[in-house]
Amino acid sequence: MTESTFIAPEQVGVLGGGRMGAGIAHAFLLAGSRVGIVERDADAAEAATARVLESIDASVARGTALDSPEAYRARLTTGTDAALFAQCTLVVEAVPEDLALKVDALRRVEAQIAPDAAIASNTSSISIDELAAVLDRPSRLLGMHFFNPVPASTLVEIVHGASTAPALVDAARGWVAAIGKTPIVVADAPGFASSRLGVAIGLEAIRMLEEGVASAEDIDAAMTLGYKHPVGPLRLTDIVGLDVRLGIAEYLSAQLGERFEPPALLRRLVAEGHLGRKSGRGFYEWDASGREQK
Ligand SMILES: NC(=O)c1ccc[n+]([C@@H]2O[C@H](COP(=O)([O-])OP(=O)(O)OC[C@H]3O[C@@H](n4cnc5c(N)ncnc54)[C@H](O)[C@@H]3O)[C@@H](O)[C@H]2O)c1
Repeated sequence: MTESTFIAPEQVGVLGGGRMGAGIAHAFLLAGSRVGIVERDADAAEAATARVLESIDASVARGTALDSPEAYRARLTTGTDAALFAQCTLVVEAVPEDLALKVDALRRVEAQIAPDAAIASNTSSISIDELAAVLDRPSRLLGMHFFNPVPASTLVEIVHGASTAPALVDAARGWVAAIGKTPIVVADAPGFASSRLGVAIGLEAIRMLEEGVASAEDIDAAMTLGYKHPVGPLRLTDIVGLDVRLGIAEYLSAQLGERFEPPALLRRLVAEGHLGRKSGRGFYEWDASGREQK
């Protein structure tokens, strides 16, 4: 168990045990919670179990998880029935980023949990107010935006909607601290804090490259050496995926105006299939194993 003066909920539910859900389950297991994962079918449930156990084994091997693998396994349950969430204090929703899917999923969760239990959506872009509007108890919903990969990321954005209970925001801060991560509290605004700022810098870097202000390497060095960013904005765009960044920029420009309008260079590279590391080329060249070619 991780040392902390904050206590993780005894029972945590995770809806959708994919990349993020498995990481979230892993984080709460390490902090001592019992975790139940609900997936869409039996095969997906089995895959989710395997994902969580693999990362538990890795944490045990690294010495960052102090219990035995068996002890963590004994606290993990997976299934396909949301009734698994009946005893949970907190259920984190991590199904794919699709409004209709999330609405359906959240209603299903709300029908199974206690009236004072909390639901957190791990959405990266959907409005918490929009999701809360479909629930009977909107005050019990908030956003908990985890970062990928969850085990290596220490930030969690807690997103409060207009109707989120203030006491729930306080409780969520404690839960995030209990899993050894740092919470920041953000209002329900497009892109929250992280995507909005990160994408703003990324888009400006692309515009600077487009205008011939400096080379990609020099623009990145301005931020890594000048501002101590761990990765420059163009290299980061390659790692995230140019198509992913374009999608977020289109969403933010629709919500927040033309300052997020995607630069023509970004649109052109995506149209040509240059998506960054995953396609071998973006602002830099990458080999098949995902290493940058110098
Ligand atoms: N991947 C990232 O970098 C990242 C970062 C932050 C937030 N997010 C957000 O996290 C959420 C999940 O993303 P992900 O990358 O883990 O996706 P993913 O596709 O890896 O996982 C989604 C999981 O949900 C399951 N699922 C689908 N429909 C379901 C249903 N009706 N009931 C139960 N389970 C269902 C799928 O089987 C899958 O295992 C999205 O909202 C995404 O925007 C993703």
